[in-house]
Amino acid sequence: MSHKKTIFSGIKPSGDLTIGNYIGAITQWVEMQEEYNCIFSVVDYHAITVKQKPEDLRRRILDITKIYLASGIDPKKSIVFQQSAVPAHTELGWVLNCCGTYISDLKRMIQFKEKAGDKQDAVSVGLFDYPVLMAADIILYDTQIVPVGEDQKQHVELARDIAKRFNNQYGPVFVIPEALIKKEGARIMSLSDPMKKMAKSDDNPVGFIALLDSPEVARKKIMKAVTDSGSEIIYDPKNKPALANLLTIHSSLSGESIKSLEKKFAGRGYGDFKKELAEVVAVFLTDFQKKFNKISDADAKKILENGRKQATKLADAKMEKVRKVIGVR
Ligand code: TYM
Repeated sequence: MSHKKTIFSGIKPSGDLTIGNYIGAITQWVEMQEEYNCIFSVVDYHAITVKQKPEDLRRRILDITKIYLASGIDPKKSIVFQQSAVPAHTELGWVLNCCGTYISDLKRMIQFKEKAGDKQDAVSVGLFDYPVLMAADIILYDTQIVPVGEDQKQHVELARDIAKRFNNQYGPVFVIPEALIKKEGARIMSLSDPMKKMAKSDDNPVGFIALLDSPEVARKKIMKAVTDSGSEIIYDPKNKPALANLLTIHSSLSGESIKSLEKKFAGRGYGDFKKELAEVVAVFLTDFQKKFNKISDADAKKILENGRKQATKLADAKMEKVRKVIGVR
């Protein structure tokens, strides 16, 4: 491999991808393709930590692949593959469960606490153990940088700890990865509750804009989005969290800076701003979906198969080393 740094990231097919996933994660990836060895995975084994309908899961795996491509991920520059097609991920996950991870690590994971709520003993072991599989995804490829949204920071930090502990015990097998989080847009919030993250698994569809929502539906969701008291268009996340979120969405999709949006809307109200944002979102989705619809299932499958071969080569070489140092075959 070249001396370029390696980045790895992924999205789990557990629901319809939102503009949060796009802004927080995918846009970073697209920019990084020129300067890094990039590996992007559809991390399907992460989706089954909660119940999934097999036919929905199959559909979403292809849809996410198409979303990567429609966003500008170029399979000639980047490896695009499906996690379950490379068994080394789950194999390394087991090894890391045993060598490098403590139950106390997993008990303090914010996402686990949020997802399990007061049912911590009644959810699947997979939901609890999920960050270890994520650590395996990352360190399997000598990844240096992991571009993710803010909610994944703690998981990447755990991957660092696990890799360090493994290396301490067995020698320098793994590269220690680092999270890369955008300054703006790393945490897009729900349109119906600015204290909650915009999530693909949200039961309330008004809270998120899916990348495959029709532009008309998306427009309505923006117009219905909650706003704060007052009327001035200023970026003030503390006192105007809902508006700050809408400004961030606008800026991320239109490329206009928040400063210039504040200037443009000086003296105008929320209604005007939302109308323009609705238009920005509709234009973005129309263009995005045009690209998405041009990609066939067959194209997506071909790209995944090609990616599987490339990823397998790297992953198998690393697993050979791991098996050797721990003393199995
Ligand atoms: P997932 O599938 O929940 O989300 C995929 C990516 O989108 C980011 N994201 C957001 N960014 C900004 N605002 C939001 N509202 C928002 N919601 C989601 C996430 O931070 C993430 O970058 N565990 C991971 C998937 C994973 C992974 C990995 C990531 C598995 N293995 C290895 C990186 C490296 C997850 O559940 O992301």
